[in-house]
Amino acid sequence: MAEKIRVMYSEEEVSARIRELAEQINRDYEGKEIHIIGILRGGSYFMCELSKRITVPVTIDFMSASSYGMSTTSSGQVKIVKDLEESILGRHVIVVEDIIDTGRTLSHLLKMLAERGPASLKLCTLLDKPDRRVVEVKIDYNGYTIPDEFVVGYGLDYAQKYRNLPYIGVVEFEE
Ligand code: IMP
Ligand code: MG
Repeated sequence: MAEKIRVMYSEEEVSARIRELAEQINRDYEGKEIHIIGILRGGSYFMCELSKRITVPVTIDFMSASSYGMSTTSSGQVKIVKDLEESILGRHVIVVEDIIDTGRTLSHLLKMLAERGPASLKLCTLLDKPDRRVVEVKIDYNGYTIPDEFVVGYGLDYAQKYRNLPYIGVVEFEE
C-alpha cells in the first residue's frame, strides 16, 4: 500500500506558531531558568526549534518512552527506554512532546517526573489530538489542536519515516 502526504501546516505556519509559543514561555518564565525535557524521538525537532527562540536561560535533557510499535494504534503500554541524565530537583521543567494522543505516555511520564521534586512542571506539545484521549493530561502550551488524523513530519513518524519533513502532513493511504 502506497501513501501520500497532504500538507496540514506548512513550514512557515509551524515556524510562526512556534515563535508565538516561545514568546509566551519567555513572558511566563521571566527571571527564571528553564530546564527543557525533550521526549525522544518525536519531540526532538520541535524542542530544538522552540528552544532556539527562548530568551531566558535554558538547559536541556532527553527522555524516551515507547508506546507505539510500527502500527498507528497505541498498545497501551508505556516503557521508559531512556531516562534523564540530570536531576530535576528544584528546577523549572517544561516537557516538550510532539503530540498528545491517548494521553497515556505523558500522563505516565508527568507522574513520574512530579515525584522527583521539580520546582515546577509544565507540558508543551506541538499537537493535541483530543478525540482519542483515554487519560486526562493537562497541556500548558499547545501548538495546534488537530482532528483524529494520522500526522507526520516535524519529528512525527509513520513506521519511522517522514520525521524529517519540515512541515506537518496527513498520511493518506492509496490502494
Ligand atoms: P499517546 O500516549 O497515545 O498520547 O501517544 C503519544 C505518542 O504517540 C506520540 O509521542 C507519538 O509518538 C505517537 N502518535 C500519536 N499520534 C500520532 C500521529 O498522528 N502521528 C505520529 N505519531 C503519533
Ligand atoms: Mg513520541
